[in-house]
Amino acid sequence: MDRADPLARLRDRLGDGGGDVAGARAFFAPGRANLLGAHLDYNGGRVMPVALSRGTYLAVAPRDDDSLVLESEGFPGERVETSWSELRPGRTTGWSAYLEGALWAASRRWGRPPGWEVRVVADLPLAKGVSSSASIACAAVLAVASWQRVDEPRETLAAVAHQGETEYVGVPCGILDQTAIFLGREDHVLSYDCLEGTHDYLPLDHHRAAVVVLDSGTSRELAAGAFEERVADCRRALEALRGPLPALRALRDLTEDQLLEHGSLLDERLRRRAAHVVGEVRRTRLGAEALAHGDLASFGRQITASHASLRDLYEVSTPELDALVEAAVAAPGCFGARLTGAGFGGCVVALVDPAARADFDAAVTRGYRAATGHDPAPTWFAPAGGARELPFRA
Ligand code: GLA
Repeated sequence: MDRADPLARLRDRLGDGGGDVAGARAFFAPGRANLLGAHLDYNGGRVMPVALSRGTYLAVAPRDDDSLVLESEGFPGERVETSWSELRPGRTTGWSAYLEGALWAASRRWGRPPGWEVRVVADLPLAKGVSSSASIACAAVLAVASWQRVDEPRETLAAVAHQGETEYVGVPCGILDQTAIFLGREDHVLSYDCLEGTHDYLPLDHHRAAVVVLDSGTSRELAAGAFEERVADCRRALEALRGPLPALRALRDLTEDQLLEHGSLLDERLRRRAAHVVGEVRRTRLGAEALAHGDLASFGRQITASHASLRDLYEVSTPELDALVEAAVAAPGCFGARLTGAGFGGCVVALVDPAARADFDAAVTRGYRAATGHDPAPTWFAPAGGARELPFRA
């Protein structure tokens, strides 16, 4: 068996949970990195992510009963045995919550497949801001939809995965991760309007720019509560501003002038949150224009400016993430860098000229080591395609 091949690892172990391997099917869902539009999804703004070429591989083998036997390579010895009929929100907070939430939401919508043995292999860093959890959920939603022969738009599959995360797991996340994972396209940045539900694609030629994920070496332990606080801050700011501005559909509609005029309705913290949203909306507009003209230098400047806003106004950065962005931006070939995901630890994403790869890697590693002692382990990606079924047999 080729240990480097995640599908081979899936094939190797499937079957010891009572599934019929002859009827097995395999699915892949990528991770994602959001380049611009940080914390805009639940504020109705535009997000600009790419899907990554690494992600979650999931195989299912049918059983002759209603049981679900779930196992992940990342959590050895933690096999979960349940059944379709036992799935309900709040049942678990363990590793399988995202997987169960997706199976629950998808089977409520499209009906239940037979019992399944499910095995998961991820080749993505876990809990680091590149959406390992949404990618497992999206792979599972795709598995149910395909098994049930459902032909629905990819936006609907994303919405079902999102429902699993918000209702079953209980995280009030926006739609960014699931949308990027289902709608990602090779050599393109997705530009998705989270209020209108419309999207288009902007070119990002992998010969000119690569997406590099840098690990700060810190994980996001406090992220859940702090993320919920940011969502609540934005909701409160919107409610207060709707007094004088009843036509605001979401914070993304707020203009800079309106914030200046009515900002006194908000306390200092809420004003900073709203200012981040207003600035980030402007950056996504400028960034989209820059990409449409192939102006990577200008696109990269928006990315780095986004980090400054996340640090100073939205307050979701950490000293390590700041040091890593600084080291990346100072390294040769870097167009721009910022924290990715919700923040509070995890990874930084940088947009880098591939011709400078060796120099960039050396410089960012040297710079970040000098600041923190950690190795950022640069991982290079080209924007990749979205979730898909894979042949289970080689
Ligand atoms: C997390 C959430 C997303 C989004 C980002 C911040 O990844 O799951 O919905 O809000 O944070 O942009």
